Amino acid sequence: MAYIEIIGGKHLHGEIDIHGSKNAVLPILAASVMNRGITKINYCPKIADVFVMIKILESIGCIVTWEHNSVIIDAANLTSDVVAEKYVSMMRSSIILLGALLGRNKCVTITYPGGCSIGKRPIDLHLKAIKQLDVEIIENGELIFCKSAHLKGTRIHLDFPSVGATENLILASVLAEGETIIENAAMEPEIKELCVFLNMMGANIKGAGESTILINGVKKLQDVEYSLVADRIVMGTYMTALAGTGGDVTLCGRCCLENKSVVTVLRKMGCRVGMGDDYINISMYERPRAIQMIETSPYPGFPTDMQSQFMSVLSIATGTSLLVENIFESRYKNAAELNKMGADIKVIDKIALITGVDQLDGCSVNAYDLRGGAALVIAGLLAQGTTHVNGIEYIKRGYEDICKDLTLLGADVKEVQ
Ligand code: EPZ
Repeated sequence: MAYIEIIGGKHLHGEIDIHGSKNAVLPILAASVMNRGITKINYCPKIADVFVMIKILESIGCIVTWEHNSVIIDAANLTSDVVAEKYVSMMRSSIILLGALLGRNKCVTITYPGGCSIGKRPIDLHLKAIKQLDVEIIENGELIFCKSAHLKGTRIHLDFPSVGATENLILASVLAEGETIIENAAMEPEIKELCVFLNMMGANIKGAGESTILINGVKKLQDVEYSLVADRIVMGTYMTALAGTGGDVTLCGRCCLENKSVVTVLRKMGCRVGMGDDYINISMYERPRAIQMIETSPYPGFPTDMQSQFMSVLSIATGTSLLVENIFESRYKNAAELNKMGADIKVIDKIALITGVDQLDGCSVNAYDLRGGAALVIAGLLAQGTTHVNGIEYIKRGYEDICKDLTLLGADVKEVQ
């Protein structure tokens, strides 16, 4: 089995570009099926989840081609409104096609996405919201069949600002009759980016990025060329790595202002951070300071997708830190792996108590999810000795080439087959 080998103890220096955002491009790729024409997406990341999403688009009749780092989707002639089970089990976020195909065809068949290592990942909020658009939903075992004679806009309140449920509801409303008002919508930057993209296609959406979104249904959408912003979590991952290793790096990409909550914590740890519209410079010349408490919450709060990375760095901080994971019910699997490296982390329900130790010692550790895997690479960077991170197929879902990026910044990291 392939693994990533890291020889720790190196400071990081240099400048790299951050690739396009995974959590923005997946709903945008799904949304492209709503345009019976051509959609071009620039700066599309070459990551495993994008390759799966492209396979799904091709399986329902889209013609998809790459042009350097742009993807061109021709969705003029769809041949199916069934999202095959094998793809949903490969990538649970394919559930976003529910709203897109409903919007386009007024019917869709998709299987229940399973859970994953970070949680059960139910879709009750998606279905409860979609039903209110005059959609009939028939569940038969693992299959979900949705159809509507005509999608009708209405006022819908989400019990929780779920990112996926908000995206599915927006997609199903764009071509519906009348106005849809989404209350308690997710405010993540990816929601705003999806709405900017849809409005460029001719949709009529107001309030994107706020907790109330207004969608006035339109008759059809048009061809569009869209350039993705950089991935804020990939950028946050490398900033957090620097906080642990020390050094001075510049990360280039248009997503800096969306990392405010992460930058605030990094500064409290002792990092110096400067930023412009399309770059962040971060430097660190001391041992990271412990943080009394970090609580994950929906945007603009501290992102759950950065929790594992901070757990790695706080494990060698001066003092005791407390993490509270409020979004996913089992996102602490890394604690046991870090404790194998000499960390002192106690997990009680949604709380992780991290007592900083002087150093971690490299050893073989296992990744169980995407961000947990990236966090174990960070642990290897700041550990003494050699670390092997197994389960790198998780990391490839959201990082184009984490070894190349970190090597460009001076780390001793390589993928071993
Ligand atoms: C998106 O997942 C992201 N994925 C996740 O990133 C991210 O962690 C999450 O939003 C929160 O920011 C993509 O965008 C592809 P949610 P999503 O619906 O939409 C519960 C990564 O590493 N919930 O906001 O699935 C759910 O169980 C990934 O890039 C319900 O109970 O997140 C969870 O506890 C990991 N019922 C919480 O809400 C529902 O119907 C947040 O889920 C839907 C969600």
